[in-house]
Formats: sequence, structure tokens, C-alpha cells
Amino acid sequence: MLRNSLLAALTLPLFCTSSQTPIDLSIPDGPVRNIAIIGAGAAGSSAAYHLSQYASMAGITTNITVFERSSYVGGRSTTVHAWDDPLEPVELGASIFVKVNHILMDAVQRFNLTVATPDLGLAKAAEEEEEGDYVGIWNGREFVFRGDDELGWWDTLKMLWKYGLAPIRTRRLMSQTVGQFLKMYEEPHFPWRSLTDKAMELGLVRPMAMTGEAFLKENGVGGLFADEVVQASTRVNYAQNLPLINGLITMVCMATDGAKSVPGGNWRIFSSFLSATPNLSTRLNTAVSALTKESDSTYTVIPKTASGQTLAPEHYDTVILAAPYHQSNVTLTPPPHTEPADLAFVTLHVTLLASPHRLSPSFFALNADDGPVPSVVLTTLPPDVRPDDRQFPGPAGFFSISTLRRATNPHTGRREYLYKIFSPQPADDAWLARLFDLPQGVTDDDVSWIYRKVWQSYPYESPRVSFDDVCLDGCEGGDGGAAGGLWYTGGIEGFISTMETSALMGRNVAKLVVDGWAKGKESRGDSAGAAADASEGVKEL
Ligand SMILES: Cc1cc2nc3c(=O)[nH]c(=O)nc-3n(C[C@H](O)[C@H](O)[C@H](O)COP(=O)(O)OP(=O)(O)OC[C@H]3O[C@@H](n4cnc5c(N)ncnc54)[C@H](O)[C@@H]3O)c2cc1C
Ligand SMILES: *[C@@H]1O[C@H](CO)[C@@H](O)[C@H](O)[C@H]1NC(C)=O
Ligand SMILES: *[C@@H]1O[C@H](CO)[C@@H](O)[C@H](O)[C@H]1NC(C)=O
Ligand SMILES: *[C@@H]1O[C@H](CO)[C@@H](O)[C@H](O)[C@H]1NC(C)=O
Ligand SMILES: *[C@@H]1O[C@H](CO)[C@@H](O)[C@H](O)[C@H]1NC(C)=O
Repeated sequence: MLRNSLLAALTLPLFCTSSQTPIDLSIPDGPVRNIAIIGAGAAGSSAAYHLSQYASMAGITTNITVFERSSYVGGRSTTVHAWDDPLEPVELGASIFVKVNHILMDAVQRFNLTVATPDLGLAKAAEEEEEGDYVGIWNGREFVFRGDDELGWWDTLKMLWKYGLAPIRTRRLMSQTVGQFLKMYEEPHFPWRSLTDKAMELGLVRPMAMTGEAFLKENGVGGLFADEVVQASTRVNYAQNLPLINGLITMVCMATDGAKSVPGGNWRIFSSFLSATPNLSTRLNTAVSALTKESDSTYTVIPKTASGQTLAPEHYDTVILAAPYHQSNVTLTPPPHTEPADLAFVTLHVTLLASPHRLSPSFFALNADDGPVPSVVLTTLPPDVRPDDRQFPGPAGFFSISTLRRATNPHTGRREYLYKIFSPQPADDAWLARLFDLPQGVTDDDVSWIYRKVWQSYPYESPRVSFDDVCLDGCEGGDGGAAGGLWYTGGIEGFISTMETSALMGRNVAKLVVDGWAKGKESRGDSAGAAADASEGVKEL
């Protein structure tokens, strides 16, 4: 059963790397465009795939190199394996996408990937049905909401008299906002050069410019529903509280219909983008450490191995930086024409673990007759507590704890539970001992597998009205006004940080780059110019 947007788990083995040897491009139809893409996450892989598609429609030959500093494709979308067992993959980063995420949904279809409903909770097998398989919202003192096993998330909310019309109003507001956002996928709005202008034009600046709390209030959704349910959602999805996060992101958090995940790992989408792109090579464990702009707006790239060894310079016509600028550690010479804002990112502690124990009622101050602890605990703030800074977790101390599923410990054959915890501080052993009510402390028997990861997960999505440019430098090019340039996908994260929006920005940059090349061909009277024009009319890739 589908409950909400939260955390999925089902996944499969292997940090797959899709690496193809560059094909011999010795008989190109016009000049071969050499492109370097920095980062093999959602943005970079989508940029590669769509660039190749748009270019071939315009009769332009591409030769793409994707540099990835880590050892795997997927970036913040990646899996690890419980007990190092390839049969027990767990999403460590981005877990969920939704039905309106057209790029991801189209991709899973095109690449024949299976999608699953990331329903949370415990065993599916009848003999393993357990009590407590539902979502609860805890404010650090008491549960303010407890879901119903049989009803979906929305249906349960709608039936709660205490929330009145708020759930329905929120849903309507969310649909309107999503409707405006989806225009960004289509002509005449797509592609966009300025996210700032586009957000303004589509009326998305208004919710962005105010807090989620203010935006909901303005639209007749105040009080309990906002404080309890909506805030639980902004906390589990963005580790941020409603009085500080912006209204647009708040709507994104409520857009949970048709939640999906790819069994085996969402990174498979991004790995498929790369393997489906002709004339592409992926260089894992290879960071770009420096970029030097040449007089014709092409770039010299200095790669570096994982062990820190600097490699020989390489030359590219066009470069796309598909990672957060201030985390990429790329030295730019000269400094970029426009430097991206230094957005603060959330430091999120993700703890995955396996244990035979259920969450302890005493941790949540539940009595024996209060029923079982919910298998998924979201959190909010008590009515009398306001966040005093943006990292404020409140009395709960954490953002969410999800029981993902049951799984068999391959070392012992014992059935255990897999848990995922999001918190602003490390979930240390003393805290885990309280969570599972283990007065003697945590032993290897109590927690048979644990994996801790600290992410710079997403920006603090505070109210704002302007976003980083898609162009860092030289995108008008020196080649008849059309080659070269250093392009940037990361501006989308100050707007909305999700796998889909990064993939959309990758596609947007790809289109802008190819449009620029096509114009250059035209202005040089190139015979393929007409083909480029034809591509203008092609919408759906
Ligand atoms: C715990 C967590 C939960 C999340 N949950 C969700 C969710 O449920 N749904 C959702 O849609 N989104 C979720 N997100 C957000 C989502 O993961 C991101 O918005 C999205 O994956 C960003 O993709 P990207 O390609 O822009 O960046 P990244 O995925 O960060 O990719 C950038 C890549 O560039 C590489 N790189 C950086 N610098 C260099 C360099 N100099 N040289 C070479 N390579 C470099 C990095 O190693 C990285 O692989 C979550 C994120 C986290 C951390
Ligand atoms: C394709 O790119 C690779 C990596 O930069 C390069 O070695 C190769 O020469 C390029 N091929 C062509 C035809 O430009
Ligand atoms: C890939 O390279 C081959 C060989 O040069 C070329 O014919 C083809 O057009 C290229 N494909 C793309 C998408 O650029
Ligand atoms: C997906 O499956 C269809 C039909 O089974 C097949 O025609 C197509 O080639 C497959 N595509 C990929 C990318 O595997
Ligand atoms: C980037 O540089 C900073 C500061 O020099 C350093 O702390 C960090 O470890 C570097 N990150 C990577 C991934 O190289």
C-alpha cells in the first residue's frame, strides 16, 4: 500500500559503471564536438544523454567525456548493502520520485527498468504481518498523528476532523503549483536561460519568496495541519522546519502521489542514461581539479586521480559542471564571469542499521496500552516550540526513523529489521541503546549491521527569488557565436533539489548548448544548419 513519499529501500547490487570506449570519430559529419561533463549524478547523466539526442537531431556529432570523482555513477543517488550482502541493497541518498517526474518516469520506461511502489514498512508475506505497520508523527513529547494500516496517507488525513478542510486545500494548492512548474518542460518555456526569469514568469516566485508557513496561511491552511503534517513532511524530505523553508519546496514535499523507486537503486536510471549515450566515456575516480578558459571560450581540463595524481591536460569545446559549484573544488582560470551563490547545504546524518529489535515504546513515552510504535516515525515540533535556527530539530532530536523492511541476516539466518534514521547529529550508540531500550548498551547482536553517512544533502531552501545562472562563462562562444562555454546545472538546487529537477536542468543545459551550436552552423552557412532548425520543432526526447 502506498502511504507517502518518504523512504524506499528495495535495491540491488553493484556499483555499476557504464563505461564505453570512445568510438572512432574519424569521419565526422562536420566538426566533432568534444564535451566534458563534470559529475555523473542525475544532472550530469541527463545532460549527457539529452545532449547526444539533441545533437544528433541537429546533425552534429558529439564525443562526450563524463568525469566522476567518486567510484560510482549516481552521485547523491546511491545504494549500500546490508551486511555487505548484494541481495540487500538499501538507498543511502535519494529514495523516492513521483508520477509527475516526467524525465525519470520516461527514462524507466525507455530503459525497461522496473519501478516499485516504495511502500514503507514491514513484511509483505502474510505470515510476517506485524502490528504497528503505519506512519506516526511525533513531536518529541507525544504522537500527534497515527496513520491507519488500511487507509492511505491522504485518506487518513481527510478523515481527521481536527484538520478540517486543510488537507484538501493543501492538495489543491499543491496541484496548482505543480501545474505551473510542469510548464518548464515544454515550449515555449523550455529551454530557459534564466531560472530567475522563468520562475517569475510562471508565478513560482511568490511561493518561493515566502516561508512555507506564510504561504499556507495565505491560502487558508494554518494551524494544526501545517504544524503537524506539513512540517513532518518538510522535515523528512528536507530536514527543515516550516517557518524557515520556502513555500515552493513545501508544496514539493506535499506532492507525493504515485511515489516510485527503482528496485536495485535509483542510480540505475542515471547509469542507463550514460550507457544509452553513443560516443561517451565515463571516467570514474577521476576529478576535474582545474579548468582554464582559452581565448575561443573552449576549455583546458586538468583531471586528477582519486589518489591525488594530476593527469595530463585535455582539451574540450564545451564543459558542463554538473555538481554543486562550491563542493566541486574546481579551480577556474580566469574566475568565472558569474560566480554561483555560496548556498549553505544541510549536513544530514543518515544511519542505516539492522537489528532484531523493534523501536522501544519507552523511547516515545508510550504505555503498554498505547499500542505498538509506528514503523515509520516522522517528527514535528510541539505547539509551544519555534525553531530558533535553521538546524533546529526540536525536542524529537531527529527528523525521521523508518522501518524499511524485514530481511534475513545472512550470517545467522535470523529475521531482522532494516532501519533508516535521518538526524542532524550522529545517531550514536548511547542514543541507539535508548531507541531500542537496551540498558546494557548496544552489542553486535543488537545491531548486526550499521552504516553511517554524512551528506551535504541539499541546500537550506530558504525563501529566495533569484537563482544561479546556467552559464558560468563564455557560453556565447568564440566560434561564430556558438561554440564553447562553461555551463552549470547546480542553480536548480536553490530552486528545487530533487533527482528530477537536476535531470531537468541537465536536459535544459543540453538543449541550450545544442541550440548554440546549431546557430553557429547557420551563421557559418553550414549545410547542416537546416537540420538544426528542424530540431527546434522536436519537443519530446
Ligand atoms: C539523504 C538524501 C535523501 C534524498 N532524498 C531524495 C528523494 O527522496 N528524492 C529526490 O528526488 N531527491 C532526494 N534527494 C536529493 C537528490 O539526491 C539530489 O537533488 C540529486 O541527486 C542531485 O543530483 P545532481 O546530479 O545535481 O548532484 P549529485 O548527485 O551530487 O552529483 C554530482 C556528482 O559530481 C561529482 N563531482 C563533484 N565534483 C567533481 C569534480 N570536481 N570532478 C568530478 N566529479 C565531481 C560528485 O562526486 C557527484 O557524483 C536526497 C538527497 C539526500 C542526500
Ligand atoms: C573523444 O574524446 C576523447 C577524450 O577526450 C579523446 O581522446 C578523443 O580523441 C576524442 N575523439 C575525437 C574524434 O575527437
Ligand atoms: C558517434 O560516432 C560515430 C562515428 O564517428 C558517428 O557516426 C556518430 O554520428 C556519432 N554519434 C553521435 C550521437 O554523435
Ligand atoms: C525494452 O523492451 C522492449 C520490448 O521488450 C525492446 O523492444 C527494447 O529494445 C528494450 N529497450 C531497452 C533499452 O532495453
Ligand atoms: C574540497 O576542498 C575542501 C577545502 O580545501 C576540502 O576540505 C574537501 O575535502 C575537498 N573535497 C573533495 C571531495 O576533494
